[in-house]
Amino acid sequence: MTIPIPAEDPRHVPNRALVDPSAITQNTRALTGLLEEQTALMAVVKADGYGHGMLTAARAALEGGATWLGAAHPASALALSRAGLDVSILTWLYEPHTARSILPEALRAGINVAVGSPEMLALVSEAARQADRRARVHVKIDTGMGRGGVRRERLREMGASILADDFLSLGAAWTHLTSADDPEDPATDEQVEIFDAACEELAEEAGPIPLQHLANSAALLSRPDLHRDIVRPGIALYGYAPVPTDTPLRPALTLTSRLAMVKDVPAGASVGYGRTHRTSRDTTLGLVPIGYADGLHRAASGGVEVIVRTEAGDRLAPQVGRISMDQIVVDLGPGTTARPGDEVVLFGDAGGAPTDPVAPTAEDWARAGDTIPYEVLTSVSGRVAREVLA
Ligand SMILES: Cc1ncc(COP(=O)(O)O)c(C=O)c1O
Repeated sequence: MTIPIPAEDPRHVPNRALVDPSAITQNTRALTGLLEEQTALMAVVKADGYGHGMLTAARAALEGGATWLGAAHPASALALSRAGLDVSILTWLYEPHTARSILPEALRAGINVAVGSPEMLALVSEAARQADRRARVHVKIDTGMGRGGVRRERLREMGASILADDFLSLGAAWTHLTSADDPEDPATDEQVEIFDAACEELAEEAGPIPLQHLANSAALLSRPDLHRDIVRPGIALYGYAPVPTDTPLRPALTLTSRLAMVKDVPAGASVGYGRTHRTSRDTTLGLVPIGYADGLHRAASGGVEVIVRTEAGDRLAPQVGRISMDQIVVDLGPGTTARPGDEVVLFGDAGGAPTDPVAPTAEDWARAGDTIPYEVLTSVSGRVAREVLA
């Protein structure tokens, strides 16, 4: 008899990314509350909804008042449309192979396509002919980010091409801010100045610009003067504010695991690769089967206190030693009541069952690992099962 070996299934591992869609809905509602009535909110759900699950995030944001969805890849935009999310969708990142294979279908689905160069415009025009649909293009202007986006020197050429092409219509002009998370940085105002001048040039060639958009979460929260027609928040939807704000935002993702084992060790015991940690007293260590292959950043080693939910209550336990690929060690302290199987909250407010004391956030992990919450959230890997809170 052969014993069937189950396919690797993240549900056979105790690690969970618990997603609370009501947090995304509430965050979106709080953000739409900051907008003038005529300003729309585009929920940015790229990178699988910043790691929360794209469709979960999109549906939750729409419930909270978003009326646009934004996804970097056309395939993601198409998936949103195919899921029946009947709202305006924008996509902005593709190259010729992708454009040829997927843009015609995206245009048939009515998806708005960003163009940041005359060459991209030509690809969209070709796809529109193939789809026999007029493409609504959002002209992306490079005002300092230096990534996608047309520089002003070639903007007039693009505007004229749009006007001359029956398969293209101008849907919007937009740009992306480099430094809105630092309200003191003059770069934002410089970008806005360039954007406004560029919009005038574009309008001279292509006619009136129906919509303008440039505000990410930081600008949405700190620069009401930049809201224009559409704001494009990402990180704030998921509960993290890149600038100080009074707007109530709640993290939507909780990362949990369970203790695999506990063991008593004497003072001076070394922990982990490189022995970077030694216990300062007799204590109990806990092994947690989650590591950098699950998305914890190795650079954050020894920098965060996690929560262990013991039968005697929730306890903070510092993560000690280097983070390994599949596991970390936490110091449970002498006399702990923690047992193998106890839940460990790596970050997040644990959805319907918040911890006491409060668990660390993705922001805490980011600080410890010298990165940003965006990277912490999107790093939670595919081998961690997502569970959506009902
Ligand atoms: C084009 C575009 N707009 C908006 C956003 C949302 O930015 P944030 O998550 O800072 O709100 C992003 C994400 O970086 C983006 O790439």
